[in-house]
Amino acid sequence: MQKIEETTYLYEIAKVLTETIDLRKSLYSVLEILSRSLGMRKGTITILNPLRDEIQIEVAHGLSRSAMQRGRYKPGEGITGKVIQQGKSLVVPKISEEPSFLNRTASRRQTQEEISFICVPIKKGQQVVGSLSVDLPYDDTVDLKASERLLTVIATMLAQWVINLETLQIEKEALHQENLRLQEQLATKHRITNIIGNSNKMREVFQMISQVCRSNATVLLRGESGTGKELVANAIHFNSPRAKNTFIKVNCAALPSTLIESELFGHEKGAFTGAIKQKRGKFELANKGTIFLDEIGSIGLDVQANLLRVLQEKEFERVGGTQTIKVDVRIIAATSKNLEQAVEDETFRGDLYYRLNVFPIYLPPLRERKTDVLLLADHFLELYAGENNKDIRRLSTPAIDMLMQYHWPGNVRELENSIERAVLLCEGGVIRSYHLPPTLQTGEQSDTVPTRSLEEATASLEREMIIDALKNTRGNMAMAAELLQTTVRKFTYKAKRYGVDYRQYR
Ligand SMILES: Nc1ncnc2c1ncn2[C@@H]1O[C@H](COP(=O)(O)OP(=O)(O)OP(=O)(O)O)[C@@H](O)[C@H]1O
Ligand SMILES: [Mg+2]
Repeated sequence: MQKIEETTYLYEIAKVLTETIDLRKSLYSVLEILSRSLGMRKGTITILNPLRDEIQIEVAHGLSRSAMQRGRYKPGEGITGKVIQQGKSLVVPKISEEPSFLNRTASRRQTQEEISFICVPIKKGQQVVGSLSVDLPYDDTVDLKASERLLTVIATMLAQWVINLETLQIEKEALHQENLRLQEQLATKHRITNIIGNSNKMREVFQMISQVCRSNATVLLRGESGTGKELVANAIHFNSPRAKNTFIKVNCAALPSTLIESELFGHEKGAFTGAIKQKRGKFELANKGTIFLDEIGSIGLDVQANLLRVLQEKEFERVGGTQTIKVDVRIIAATSKNLEQAVEDETFRGDLYYRLNVFPIYLPPLRERKTDVLLLADHFLELYAGENNKDIRRLSTPAIDMLMQYHWPGNVRELENSIERAVLLCEGGVIRSYHLPPTLQTGEQSDTVPTRSLEEATASLEREMIIDALKNTRGNMAMAAELLQTTVRKFTYKAKRYGVDYRQYR
């Protein structure tokens, strides 16, 4: 090639590199200029991914997308790999005579034409970051050495662009890794095994969750407040094929009817006073994921009609809009209300009820699964002791008795709160009955029945301390008395009064 032409092409290359902001696009334009100037058949720019120690084709001219994807090498592998490993350019006059030619992109199989191949390293100082290579039709009048020199100059010009591309890629990969880690964390947090329960009733619930989570079926979670409806909704989503997409929760009770409509379906600009710009609703945001409609029983009749349409047709319009929006959303609803009664009272549409009630899961109240109380209490004890850096090992027997006798109107949430409070109050290694909330002390809610008398409370505490001391000393009265810093005579008297028999603890 003549010098003057060379200069023109170099000038053109410099120009696209400075004028195009899109890195990949500018590199592609460079290959295009090379294709015109050298009559090249194919051209590729590869970069070395330092994280994976792998060379991949970043930009190519004359290669299909799938061929590009196949073009991955390890440093040292094939000609490109050698160039990158050694940092020296290689010229192959005839690739048909070159044994180390891998042809990994499988793009030269059909060509009968003889090809010359030139590959030059792209360097950042002494460090190789990638390569530039071209396929030229073989021509014995062409001075390949001259072409190699020209490519080396171009590779130098490209270096900064390739480095930037590499940096971008590393950042992208780091983000991707971070995303995977967060997803993993969410999945771990919402494992079905994190829902505690061993009672028959809860086993049925687990069975149902694992049956339904893989499907797209609408799930209706029923149960009193605090029984774990939200927990189960999370578990279903994060164990479903939609786990990688969004999980959006809407509390239908927290919003007035007028707002809930725009919250769910979005609105167009100017749809009502205050609608200053277009807003996408929760259904749109949850596309490909799951929407959790909490407290569905509180939703007004006007919104129910639109909701029914989404359930049936998977489509809706934004408030004040005419465009029909289609979504792919899995619906999980929850309610503590008696929906059947609401249907009868005509405050809840029957057709909507049937649409929602495809796969109901009933979460039993805690009082109907007493065997879970201890399991849950231990679970929360470990959780909150850990959170508060306290070394609390167990619950005392009287405390356990109290937990077992109580009827838990606030269900698991109330139990969780009680244990958290006890952990905060507790100074030793054991949760005692007096660490538990006063509501539990009487077995009745404190606002209906007064708490017990001072005498009763003292007696219960004394009895508890005596039993603990006997346990710790294996029924040795003298040692137990000493432990409590009292005399054997007083200790024996009190033990007898509270009906505690030291022989039981031997
Ligand atoms: N089986 C369980 N195992 C562990 N934690 C549970 C269990 N059930 C409920 N919880 C915990 O109890 C608390 C209340 O649960 P959740 O919010 O899911 O109840 P809910 O049924 O949605 O109540 P509400 O109707 O009042 O909204 C949460 O902190 C939850 O983690
Ligand atoms: Mg809830």
